[in-house]
Parts: sequence; C-alpha cells; structure tokens
Amino acid sequence: MKIFVKKGVLADTKSEAIILTLFEDSRKLTGETLAIDKKSGGLISELIASRDFEAKPSQISVIYTRGTLLSKRIALVGLGKQSEFNLEKLRAAFARISGHLRNMNIKEAATSINLNLIPGKKDQTAQAAAEGAMLGLYQYTPYKTVNREDLKDMEKLNIIADGKDFSLIESAVKKARIIAGAVYFARDLISAPANEMTPSIMAQKAREIAARKNVSCKVLDKKKMKEIGMNALLGVASGSCEEPKFIILEYAGGKKNAAPIVLVGKGLTFDSGGISIKPADKMDEMKTDMSGGAAVMGAIMVAADLQLPLNITGLIPATENMPGGSALKPGDILKSYSGKTIEVLNTDAEGRLILADALAYASVYKPEAVIDLATLTGACIVALGDDVIGMLGTDDKLKKEIDKAAQNTGELVWELPLWESYHELIKSDIADYKNSGGRAAGTITAAAFLSKFAGDYPWVHLDIAGPAWTGKDKAYVPKGASGVGVRLLVEFLRNRVRK
Ligand code: BES
Ligand code: MN
Ligand code: ZN
Repeated sequence: MKIFVKKGVLADTKSEAIILTLFEDSRKLTGETLAIDKKSGGLISELIASRDFEAKPSQISVIYTRGTLLSKRIALVGLGKQSEFNLEKLRAAFARISGHLRNMNIKEAATSINLNLIPGKKDQTAQAAAEGAMLGLYQYTPYKTVNREDLKDMEKLNIIADGKDFSLIESAVKKARIIAGAVYFARDLISAPANEMTPSIMAQKAREIAARKNVSCKVLDKKKMKEIGMNALLGVASGSCEEPKFIILEYAGGKKNAAPIVLVGKGLTFDSGGISIKPADKMDEMKTDMSGGAAVMGAIMVAADLQLPLNITGLIPATENMPGGSALKPGDILKSYSGKTIEVLNTDAEGRLILADALAYASVYKPEAVIDLATLTGACIVALGDDVIGMLGTDDKLKKEIDKAAQNTGELVWELPLWESYHELIKSDIADYKNSGGRAAGTITAAAFLSKFAGDYPWVHLDIAGPAWTGKDKAYVPKGASGVGVRLLVEFLRNRVRK
C-alpha cells in the first residue's frame, strides 16, 4: 500500500472510506469528526447515541454516507480511554481498521491525523499511525499461484492534512514509509523458505542493499574464513551442503574516523539442530532463525535512506545447521576466531557458536558499541513469552538507551541478569568453554557464553526468539515473521543522532 499526504479537508474528500479515530470517553465530537458528522446529517452522533460503537481500543464500525458526503463510507475505529492511550494503541488502531477495509476488498481510503492525541509527540503520532497501517497490511504471497486475483490488497491511503500540519505530517510519513519498507524487507527474507533463503542468497540481498549511498558490502567466503580462523562458524556449517557466508555491511554516514556502532545478527538460514536434531514438529519454523540478521540488514537500509550521520557496521554470520556426514558431533572441540576453545556439547546450541566468531571479529572495528540480535534460546520464550525481547549485556548506559527505544517503538525488552555465578555453568572440563549450560537459566548461560567472546566494548545482547515469529495475528504483526528489531534498532540509532 502507498500512503500519500495531501492538502485538503477530509469532509470534502472523495474516497471509498473515510477513517476516523475516536476516544472512548470523548463526549463531544470535534474537528474533522464534527464537520463530517454535521455534513452527513448526524450519522456519527446517531451511531454513538445507539451505543453500537463505544470506541473501545480497535473497535470498528463502518457506516454508509448515502450521498451526504463525497466519500461512500465512514470507518470509525476506537482508541480506548484517552488516559490509557499511547503510540502502541494508535499503531494497533490504524492496523486494525486498514485490515478490516482490506478484507472488505476496499482498495483506497482517506484519513487525517490528529497531532494532539498525545501531548508533545506530534511527530511520533503521525509516524505511528502511518506505520501501523502499513505494518498491519503486510502479506507474504509470492508462492500463491492459484487464485492470485482473489488476493485482497489495499492500494492507497490518502492522509488529508491542513496547511499548518502538512509539512510535519509529510516528513513523518516519509520516515514511516522507509521504516515500514525495511520491516517488509526483513519479513520477506524471514518468510522465504530455507531452500530459497540460503546463506548465499542472503549475501546477495545484502549486496543489493549496498546499492544505496554510503553503503558497501563485503562477503567472506569459506576459504577466507578458514584463512582467518573462524572455526566456530565453519564448524556449524560443516554439516551442510550450503556454503556459509560472513556478511559485512558498512554504512559510512558519520565522520570519517568516528568509531562505528556494530550490529551483529544471527543468520541461521535453517536450524535443524544438527546431530542433536530437533523434533519434527514445528521444525519448519526454524527457517526464521536468521531473523536477527534480517533485522540488522533492515536497520542499515533505514540508516542509509535517512542518511543518519553515523558509521554503522552490520555483521551477519550466515549458515545452515544440518546433520550431514561431516557435521559437528557432540563432544567436538573448536578453536574459535578469538583463539578460545569451545567444547560442543549440543550441536543445537549453534547460534552462540557463530555469534562467538562474529563478536570477536567485531573488535577489528574498535566499535563504540556492539548490539547483537539473535533467535538464540527457546528458554527466552519460557521466561518472557512470545512478545518480549530478552536483554543482557555489560553496559548499563547502552541498556538504558535500548530500553528507551523499546518503549517508543513497542518492541519491548526486559533485562535478565548476567551475574558471575552463571559463568560457572559454561566452563568446560577439557576446553575453555562448553556451548551448553544445561536447562537452567538457558537464556542467561547463552549470553554468559557470548560475553566470553565480546571484546572490550560496550555490548548488549538481544534474544528475539519470542517475538521474531508469531503463530497468531497480532495488532500490526500478521501471523508469521514480525521483523522485530528493525524499528527498535532504528529508534536507538535515531536517538543517538538526536543527542
Ligand atoms: N534457534 C534456536 C532457538 C529457538 C527456539 C528460537 C525456538 C526460536 C524458537 C537455537 O539455536 C536453539 O536451538 N537453542 C537451544 C539451545 C540449547 C540446545 C542449549 C534451545 O533453546 O533449546
Ligand atoms: Mn539450534
Ligand atoms: Zn538456532
């Protein structure tokens, strides 16, 4: 769907449907809503008086204007109580109403955005409304060859603004378009089946991102990895026929010698578990094990499109984890890129192996900060559920910055401790470390393991195993890949610039 911002008056706009938002507790109609109510001979006040529509969060009512307006329908969506309102509810409302109209096979709608819904957040309000509509309408359809003509899709949303709000709304919508576009990109990569999203194809996608201004892409192949000793990554790749790729995306928007922010993303294009093989049930979902890598790629796209004045490096170790004849075996020992040795007790704890090499490699860049994103542990879903990102790390200031970005974007994080006692659990009897600490505190022992390979830089690890994929429709995340992390990283980066 394309969003346009146009100067005009909503009541005089011709469209298939006018979208209006209402608070549950607002007794009197105001602004555009009042104008439209009057013009339509009181259709909205009649609906409200009937109590058929109470403006509960995301409640929807569609009424027909019967020739009183140029627009055929009025589509009302509730925002809930004003005192409980926030950006997340606005995203949800716009996603729900857009999806509802799409399901009615409506191709086009018009709306306006009240910039005073949340005091002091005009810019974010406009951005959230536009993002909500776009993110909620995402569909993954490239493999549907039958009845393609039955696929419903909303094509156009016109945001009608008056002269004084126009430029603010237009610039916020421009950002929303770029950000939602990158989330779509990430969702597409994640949704693609593993036979069509191999490490090589992922690397190709990264090269395409490098067509942007100030972005370059370098891909280390197997030969190069051997040469420099990325043996943890190579170990994971050894059971697969697909070549691993170590993808490096560099965005140079900052001062020439300014230290970069390094973003590391797990790029497991398929995680079968390897010799410690996973159960068949839901193994298909492990095509999403490159969600961290996809989020890093999306965030770099946005940074480049917004021309943020920062240097950012993306590192994405990409491989399959397969149980081939030359696969890693439980008990194998690997000498990682850092020089430290790892006893592989469980080949299904592969994410931390490839990240160990990537985090150690990050030191090459003398980074200002390093953030890694990974669908790392099922234990994180047990601890925090499907919606929340687990956060662990060594730098309180960086954690605070990420938490702030999390609250602004609705991609919520919750911190787990990395206390010294946990580090005992990953000591190996015969190597430096073992790659599994057992069942207890699985997310924490995974992060404790990573910390051994993180260099002397501020570092935060984000375990996105829960929210990366959703088995049911959420407000603005349709069932499937969420693209979680793109908006969080972008918000973090933009806040860094604002400082
Ligand atoms: N990719 C998985 C984690 C995962 C599980 C992500 C479910 C999303 C949904 C990871 O590689 C893994 O298999 N982790 C193991 C670690 C264990 C063997 C120590 C796990 O969580 O069971
Ligand atoms: Mn695994
Ligand atoms: Zn995995």
